[in-house]
Amino acid sequence: MDRLENELIKDIGEERYNHTLRVVDTAIKLARKHDIDLEKVKKAAILHDCAKFPGQINWLKMARDFDIILDNYMEYNQDLIHAPLGAKIAEVKYKIEDKEVLDAIYYHTTGRENMTLLDKIIYIADYIEPGRKFPGVDEIRKETFAHLDRGILLALDNTIKFLVDRNKLIHPNTLKARNFLLMDLNPKIKEDIFL
Ligand SMILES: [Fe+2]
Ligand SMILES: [Fe+2]
Repeated sequence: MDRLENELIKDIGEERYNHTLRVVDTAIKLARKHDIDLEKVKKAAILHDCAKFPGQINWLKMARDFDIILDNYMEYNQDLIHAPLGAKIAEVKYKIEDKEVLDAIYYHTTGRENMTLLDKIIYIADYIEPGRKFPGVDEIRKETFAHLDRGILLALDNTIKFLVDRNKLIHPNTLKARNFLLMDLNPKIKEDIFL
């Protein structure tokens, strides 16, 4: 793991690396409350931001260089590109073969429909790690440790509201993640929709 850590610090800088360590820590705490392979959680957490290079980056070129096909939303909101790019770099540079780990990295910024337990833990650990300070984060933290899915639903709702308030695009995967969880937690909603 030492070599990996050195490479990571070189690539993403100390500040981002410290965030990563807090995500690893939070993810492990959550993993202990659920039935999941801790090693997978650690791998996905430590590498989730492995493509979050500091400074001015030409993200579109970078994505092209790594043969990543971006959707329109990622072209408009280039902040999101480090997630699919990170999955690719985790595979090529850090030799991660586990598709579940790569997927958790790929979807850590947007979420997706029907997230795996690993996706959920990485997504929310990134959102609530102790360095995060924004209105509502304490409630989301509390809810996540009480009930993972309800915590994630709160986080997705919070993100969507934030984006709407600022007139920003919402990635469809975020909407799908939110709708899926909402239906999963409230089966009655499904009935109402299809009546
Ligand atoms: Fe990220
Ligand atoms: Fe992150």
